[in-house]
Amino acid sequence: MSRTFRRLLVAGAAGFIGSNFVRHLRRERPAIEITVLDKLTYAGNLANLVEFEGRPGYRFVHGDICDSGLVDSLAVECDAIVNFAAETHVDRSLMDPLAFIDTDVRGTAVLCEAARRHEHQAFLLVSTDEVYGHVGEGRSVESDPFRPRSPYSASKAGGEHLAHAYAESFGLPLLVTRGSNNYGPYQYPEKLIPVLITNAIDGLPLPLYKDGSAVRDFIHVDDHCRAIDLVLHEAPAGSVYNVGTGAETSGLQVAEAVLDIMGKPRTLIEFVADRAGHDYRYALDISRITALGWEPQVGFAEGLERTVRWYREHPDWWRPLKSGEYWDYYKRNYKPLVS
Ligand code: NAD
Ligand code: TYD
Repeated sequence: MSRTFRRLLVAGAAGFIGSNFVRHLRRERPAIEITVLDKLTYAGNLANLVEFEGRPGYRFVHGDICDSGLVDSLAVECDAIVNFAAETHVDRSLMDPLAFIDTDVRGTAVLCEAARRHEHQAFLLVSTDEVYGHVGEGRSVESDPFRPRSPYSASKAGGEHLAHAYAESFGLPLLVTRGSNNYGPYQYPEKLIPVLITNAIDGLPLPLYKDGSAVRDFIHVDDHCRAIDLVLHEAPAGSVYNVGTGAETSGLQVAEAVLDIMGKPRTLIEFVADRAGHDYRYALDISRITALGWEPQVGFAEGLERTVRWYREHPDWWRPLKSGEYWDYYKRNYKPLVS
């Protein structure tokens, strides 16, 4: 199985992973034309894509994936859709769940519908390991049932269910990647790693929920983008792939590593009130994607050092994001730990 594409519609590419994916594609597959569709929510940022502006084979369209007329008019010119567009932050989903359902469920369905109408070669949905919910023991395999526990993960699961329904009912050539926690350049400073790094740069407390013991499988965004590219081009239609590293790191270990890299004291760590419905562990079995010919290349220690360096060297990128609305959200979200 090997596909070639003339033009891709990449939705949500003004965000963290999507913009890194566009960078990857322009470098590795410059013949593919790219149309980006993005609503530019608080998490979308044209600065992430500025280097492509005005270049041949690249076009940015400001709009909503829920707008079926707009999506249809773009899909007709493309031969596949890759969907990154989503509301993505668990803590925000606990404050405003309905925005997540609009974009992550309905928006995904609108994209599926356009891909079906225009008989696209492939529809790749960027899903998440969070659809499996908290994993107490063992590792999730792709056939495991969904047990989402936050409005974010439930919305992602809902969007994925709809995409599978389009595959079953209408023959949509669906590809799904379920990635673990990404980190790297251009990640909005609300997710764990950029919160820790940017706070440490400013000498602010590093907030960890409860005791910092929840574990995640942190994958460098470059590795995730290579996996999405491989699945898009080489995987059989209808297949689903877990994408992670297999390593498990607690929030406390991440915070200590950030402080060590930066030469800052561990006393900056502050334990705060736990997140509601906190999933304490995700863990993926990655044998299916490794059998397809992918493996992670960036170890966590090296990737974290590179990421710390990037945030240190790009205050012009992240400082403007940590202003007004951001601190309102921050104050609402983080509460003292009551023991
Ligand atoms: P992000 O929050 O950085 O970016 C999301 C982008 O989607 C933004 O540019 C935003 O403007 C856009 N968007 C939101 N609603 C939209 C709408 N209705 N129409 C058009 N555009 C809209 O997210 P990210 O971390 O880059 O994640 C990208 C995708 O990868 C998401 O689908 C997410 O669920 C998935 N994912 C993320 C991770 C992770 O660790 N960040 C891990 C696995 C999977
Ligand atoms: P996060 O980056 O929000 O990703 P996820 O979608 O996997 O929850 O959080 C990763 C882990 O870090 C999760 O266990 C919650 C924890 N966490 C903190 O302890 N403090 C923080 O400030 C944030 C944002 C997350």
